[in-house]
Amino acid sequence: MRKKVILITGANGEVGHGLVSRLYESGERSILTLDIKPLDDALSDKVQAHVVGDILDTALLQRMMSEYEINAVFHLAALLSTRAEFTPEAAHRVNVEGTLNLLHLAVEQSRWLGYRVTFIFPSSIAVYGIPSLAIKNSIPPVKEDEYCQPTTMYGCNKLYCEHLGRYYSAYYRRLAASPEPFTLDFRAIRFPGLISAVTVPSGGTSDYAPEMLHSAAQGQPYNAFVDEDTRIPFMVMPDATKALLLLAAAPAENLTRSIYNVTSFAPSAGEIADIVRRALPDADISFDPESKRKDIVDSWPAQMDDTAARRDWGWLPDYGLTSAFDDYLIPAIRQRYEMA
Ligand code: SER
Repeated sequence: MRKKVILITGANGEVGHGLVSRLYESGERSILTLDIKPLDDALSDKVQAHVVGDILDTALLQRMMSEYEINAVFHLAALLSTRAEFTPEAAHRVNVEGTLNLLHLAVEQSRWLGYRVTFIFPSSIAVYGIPSLAIKNSIPPVKEDEYCQPTTMYGCNKLYCEHLGRYYSAYYRRLAASPEPFTLDFRAIRFPGLISAVTVPSGGTSDYAPEMLHSAAQGQPYNAFVDEDTRIPFMVMPDATKALLLLAAAPAENLTRSIYNVTSFAPSAGEIADIVRRALPDADISFDPESKRKDIVDSWPAQMDDTAARRDWGWLPDYGLTSAFDDYLIPAIRQRYEMA
């Protein structure tokens, strides 16, 4: 008998930490995780099993399919935007070929199980590419179908994988003599920058916000690689995991699209620094813009329009800018670094 599970790839990452914990707290006891590294100690009691391995290893994925009945996939594994610029072809392999392998796994599972396996894919603000700062500063919040001309390998990868998901969900095998009745149920969320009190991101370009906070909490100086007036939307991790689970649970008939923006607040980098300085008066934050990384952030919208998510599946963030810091980030980060 194969064991019924929810599969989470990239479980050691930022979103993985938040999602595994939230699922466990909600009573879920059938979590199977896959990551290139052994699972972090903080998570190991919360999962049924962990597989150490690479999403590019198709033999490994086949073995997992034979051992487990995978009801839903949260495919979080990816190389983030800054890191991907250093090794674009490697990023393409992980971000695109890896996603293709997982989509194939979910299609196979759907066929065996006789229902559509839900495939939740975190996409990103990086799929957008605003041509100039002047345009960025003059346009209303960006909707899902606008400005989809990414400037990074990561953004290209995420945008293309959204299309792959749509393809496997709706069009896969349409020319086959006897098309299989079951495909997967692909749903994607375009996240803004994410900030967690528990983990520090690695290799992203929205990292200046969490890095400011975590450096200050550890008494370390921080030199931000963007301008004080650089602005993109952000969201705290509890809201990101809430969005993933809300979308996964939404009745299919309510969904008018397969890819949704979500957002909560959009402070400038200077405003974030001011909030951190107020909460942690010893914070030593300066700005020394680095053109390549700043250009990437400048190509992302200052605001995203998440009307469709609010309308179709009741998306609403729990945290605004003030409550994100006062009620979640600052108390949790004090606890993490055991500050008074
Ligand atoms: N946070 C991601 C990054 O900076 C964007 O989704 O790469």
